[in-house]
Amino acid sequence: MFPGPTIYARQDDRVMIKVTNLTPYNLSIQWHGVRQRLTCWSDGPAYITQCPIQAGQSFTYKFTLPNQRGTLFWHAHISWLRATVYGALVIYPKHGVPYPFDLPDEEHLIILGEYWLQDIQDLEKHLKETGGGPPSSDAYLINGHPGPLHNCSKDDMFTINVRQGKTYLLRIVNAALNMEHFFGIANHLMTVVEADGEYTKPFNTTFLMLTPGQTSNVLVKADQPIAKYDMSMTPYMPAKNVPFLELPSYALLDYTNSLPSSNSLSFTYHEPILPYLNDTNCKYSSPEKCQGPNGGIFAASVIFQDTGSIGTENHPIHLHGFSFYVLGSGLGDFNSTNAVLNLYDPPYRNTVGVPVGGWTVIRFRADNPGIWFMHCHLEVHTMWGLSMAFLVKNGEGEMQTLSHPPPDLPVC
Ligand code: C2O
Repeated sequence: MFPGPTIYARQDDRVMIKVTNLTPYNLSIQWHGVRQRLTCWSDGPAYITQCPIQAGQSFTYKFTLPNQRGTLFWHAHISWLRATVYGALVIYPKHGVPYPFDLPDEEHLIILGEYWLQDIQDLEKHLKETGGGPPSSDAYLINGHPGPLHNCSKDDMFTINVRQGKTYLLRIVNAALNMEHFFGIANHLMTVVEADGEYTKPFNTTFLMLTPGQTSNVLVKADQPIAKYDMSMTPYMPAKNVPFLELPSYALLDYTNSLPSSNSLSFTYHEPILPYLNDTNCKYSSPEKCQGPNGGIFAASVIFQDTGSIGTENHPIHLHGFSFYVLGSGLGDFNSTNAVLNLYDPPYRNTVGVPVGGWTVIRFRADNPGIWFMHCHLEVHTMWGLSMAFLVKNGEGEMQTLSHPPPDLPVC
């Protein structure tokens, strides 16, 4: 299957996923954005929290999803295998708890990817030897389809059949290896309701820019005349001097087929029964505000400073094991005396694009003991060393204790 299977779960579920490695390579899988409460062994980055699963071997990842719901994804977390080894992780709210926005009529997944004709491990090896940057991929993919600009795929565009007047929830994942991507739908507004698996204050936009590793849920109302509308992804290239063939990928939003979709990725949600949290401070993106005065004692603030001025792209910094508040971001050098930080309702994410020649401040509560990888989610930059790990020690008081690794954890 490509993309790989979608995993459906609910908030607070206990999840067990047995991964059997039928490839000839070493493999490990990250559940990107899962906060892995006291289960860093199941986080996935090879040689950070586990030895890889060797060819022919299996490992069962076990974790819970406390207070997590939304769209995340999973991907290989060793060498560059995530170029093709990925799929979505959809976490619904608990039974009986509706979304904090209007109920969509249908849901669909949109997974953005990049595809190389060359064997990805050969490419990686070549770049390690030469030190060069990666060539652009041979195609951009929407749910595995390269779109009509490629001969092989002319008649094989990913299509969502919609009915006029209905509302659709699109769960959009940027699973690409090395490129940030725009996504938009001709003539349609998108209402962003979720980012990185956390509800956010809704806002309308005509396009999104997602870094590799970011996800977003948007509502789209089919409020246009009956026709076919392009959905497109195009790479974001802030630099003008980069030799780069921008060949976007397209999918279709098709009003002409009015039958309900039988696509296995779609899901119609039926449970508007109980009210969501009434406290508006807690409603969007700030669970910490709901947890009483002693809730924030392990807060760590981190300032990312990009020192490059001629760089070509933002660095999508991803932290494992936590979501973090994005307090602010700006161009130039960070200056604590005049940086404007949002301490009121900052977005709560797991991946943030640090701007070229600029800064970003994040804050998170280091309350989950373990080893937590943090790295640029452009795979080539991880390879070049734009990565580090936090060691969060077992603490006292309210902090829970990490126990021993599971007995079946792979050995190197
Ligand atoms: Cu999804 Cu360590 O990356």
